[in-house]
Amino acid sequence: MERLIRYFLLRLLTGEREIRLTKAAPSRDQLHAKFKRIDTLGLYVHIPFCEQICPYCPYNKELYRSDLADGYVKALKREIDFYSDIVANKPVTSLYIGGGTPTTMLHCGLADIIGHLRHTFNLQCDIHMESHPNHLSAGNLSLIKSMGVQHLSIGVEALVDRHLKNLCRPYTASGVKEAIRRAISHGFKCVNVDVMFALPGQTYQEIEETGHELVKLGVDQAAAYPLFLFPYTPMGKTSATRGHVIFQSLKRRRMLGILERIFYQGGYERSSAWAFTRRGAPRYCSVTVPLYLGLGAGGGSYLRDVFYLNTFGAAEYIQALEDGRMAIALSVDLTERMQRAGWLYWRIYETRFRKTDYQDRFGEDIDKAYGGYLRLLRWLGFLKDDGQRIVLSDRGAFWLHACEDILSIDYISKLWGTSRRDPWPEQAIL
Ligand SMILES: C[S@@+](CC[C@H](N)C(=O)[O-])C[C@H]1O[C@@H](n2cnc3c(N)ncnc32)[C@H](O)[C@@H]1O
Ligand code: SF4
Repeated sequence: MERLIRYFLLRLLTGEREIRLTKAAPSRDQLHAKFKRIDTLGLYVHIPFCEQICPYCPYNKELYRSDLADGYVKALKREIDFYSDIVANKPVTSLYIGGGTPTTMLHCGLADIIGHLRHTFNLQCDIHMESHPNHLSAGNLSLIKSMGVQHLSIGVEALVDRHLKNLCRPYTASGVKEAIRRAISHGFKCVNVDVMFALPGQTYQEIEETGHELVKLGVDQAAAYPLFLFPYTPMGKTSATRGHVIFQSLKRRRMLGILERIFYQGGYERSSAWAFTRRGAPRYCSVTVPLYLGLGAGGGSYLRDVFYLNTFGAAEYIQALEDGRMAIALSVDLTERMQRAGWLYWRIYETRFRKTDYQDRFGEDIDKAYGGYLRLLRWLGFLKDDGQRIVLSDRGAFWLHACEDILSIDYISKLWGTSRRDPWPEQAIL
């Protein structure tokens, strides 16, 4: 059934039967030509190291090793150099350092990487970075700030010891609350806290208390994701947690409703499908900017009519750059229809956009191109449309989550699953 819905949605939105990424990476000359047509871009830097591997985690990560980390810094700097004349002086309007766990490299190369990025690119933005709660001592927080990171995200996951234990997180609820307080007291422009909900055995009462705690702690932003089960993770493989789709979906809907109520009452606004930001605070955001360049092992780049992905393994990534090769492993050229569908998906994910943004990007009126769909979505109560702007409603956000489960989680599973199995795959079919 899910396969059928996926097939139908893909055909409807892109006209394609499948999305096929292949080994044929864009050449240096092609990249030059692509960047010529780009005015501004975002940068994503991937740090694939973690001190432990969590059983639910789908990301490209491996255990930290100091020898690999040294080689990784050198390789990243080589990749940055590779792009220096391609990107040239174009303004970089967002810089996101994600992982894995970027703070594993806090004392071994992170400052060097950020320094090299500043030196090479025309950075006109703050830095947003992910962190692990166990790395947030007062000294480390000051160090993070001194590197120019103004927007910090903390992978908190839960505020109940029982759930932290089930997720194999190596801290207690009281310890992680202290880390949040410490981070807030360091005066970042934005402290975001990631939590997961609809965890096995989690009660509505617990999610209610977690929401209230986060408001009380005064986080600038909370990103709440339902626990997604990726088939290639240890937790995704256990059938006990996979079943009961309808029950699970009702539970998610109710829990999200509880969080929405608490955050709205606490003075927060929805700032993406998953996130609530304190009114007036700047958003912490991952890479949803329309065009971005991804650096590092597993870094993905989206440049208007092409998407490409670097090799996943840190050792393979290092080796490629040492050999003077590009680290790109898979790429796909995007048809105009795929670009439009992708653009719309991400703008709706950000919960609002101006109709003129679409006009500026694609040179046509959105109502002419998608008027029928927009009217249907408005009628279903998923979107609001005041003539100028399209805004996602809470009901729309829930269905976007459901869609994510069917579409993007499946795509990510196939793409990342393939890339994890084979660092240089022939192809990946989504
Ligand atoms: C890269 S991790 C966060 C930083 C750091 N590595 C850590 O674990 O503290 C990004 C976030 O994605 C979310 N996440 C990871 N796996 C997930 C899953 N299976 N379902 C939903 N959210 C997930 C978690 O909230 C996690 O904090
Ligand atoms: S959740 Fe964070 S610490 Fe755990 S494996 Fe994933 S990236 Fe690493």
